[in-house]
Amino acid sequence: MNKVGLVGWRGMVGSVLMERMQQEGDFAKIKSTFFTTSQAGQLGPDFAGEATPLLNAYDIAALQGMDIIITCQGGDYTKEVYPKLRESGWNGYWIDAASALRMESDSIIVLDPVNKDVIEQGLEQGVKTFVGGNCTVSLMLLALGGLFERDLIEWVSPMTYQAASGAGAKNMRELISQMGAIHAEVADLLADPASAILEIDKLVADKLKSDSLPKDQFGVPLAGSLIPWIDVPTPSGQSKEEWKAGVEANKILGSSKNPVPIDGLCVRIGAMRCHSQALTIKLKQDLSVTEIEEILASHNEWVKVVPNDRTITAEELTPVKVTGTLTIPVGRIRKLAMGPEYISAFTVGDQLLWGAAEPLRRMLRIITG
Ligand code: HSE
Repeated sequence: MNKVGLVGWRGMVGSVLMERMQQEGDFAKIKSTFFTTSQAGQLGPDFAGEATPLLNAYDIAALQGMDIIITCQGGDYTKEVYPKLRESGWNGYWIDAASALRMESDSIIVLDPVNKDVIEQGLEQGVKTFVGGNCTVSLMLLALGGLFERDLIEWVSPMTYQAASGAGAKNMRELISQMGAIHAEVADLLADPASAILEIDKLVADKLKSDSLPKDQFGVPLAGSLIPWIDVPTPSGQSKEEWKAGVEANKILGSSKNPVPIDGLCVRIGAMRCHSQALTIKLKQDLSVTEIEEILASHNEWVKVVPNDRTITAEELTPVKVTGTLTIPVGRIRKLAMGPEYISAFTVGDQLLWGAAEPLRRMLRIITG
């Protein structure tokens, strides 16, 4: 049985990973050891069997005893520990949620429903470092997998609507606090059906602009607004999140030498944990909407084509519908006015499941069987 070290299992992505591993019986396949960056010696969790003391996640000798390490601890941890561990001669499998190692030439970005061939080839060639992809990238590729697999896409422009969870747990709390503060400001007027909406609107706008609105995490209001910039700037004018779409998607697809252009704007909105994306796609050929729907629907067991119907779309193609599930709905598929090869699509996915924890969990299972 493989000895698997788990790091960062208590954080948001780590907790989702632990939950999925329990649901799928993954702990029965491994001998698990829980590590901690701050509470070494304290008793660990008991969901993988009898609780044992936590080991220090910075203890290279302890990490060396593992066949596989799976970490959701974050990029700073990876940057500090991974080089030391590899330099020490450790040749185990490193499975990582953080972006730090994603673009390294000796790592593979894992999304097995889309790139099982790339993963299997890598394993045969001795690759030992497997990294989860950026959430919007993974969610887009699961939705459009059928079209990519058949090389039918000339380019894609994803315009994203990204949830607070992508920025972190504290940001989710802040979004809710902002919502509450706005409501509290006008609760009395709301309760009075005769009150004037423009008065309510003015009070809400004043609250959103006031220093008293909680905004330590986002820096600006998100509730009642949006933020059309995610992550740091890059020299191209893209935000780093926008840059990742093209480079990571092509790395996952194994097409980095002849990349499919993938570029658009990334926007933070006030959803909790599901990222949405409006996609403009130029196909290499004129396919009917029915053909496109069939190609998309048949690619993997999680993608679900939603008919381009108002009522069904409003019910099925939303963050609220998708939250907490592995379903990847894709809808609003129609021809655009620009020409027969141009189509639109809209997709939603849970940023913590397929966008973060699930590809890692599945990679662990690919290794452990
Ligand atoms: N960078 C993403 C976001 C989340 O900010 O929404 C992680 O991939």
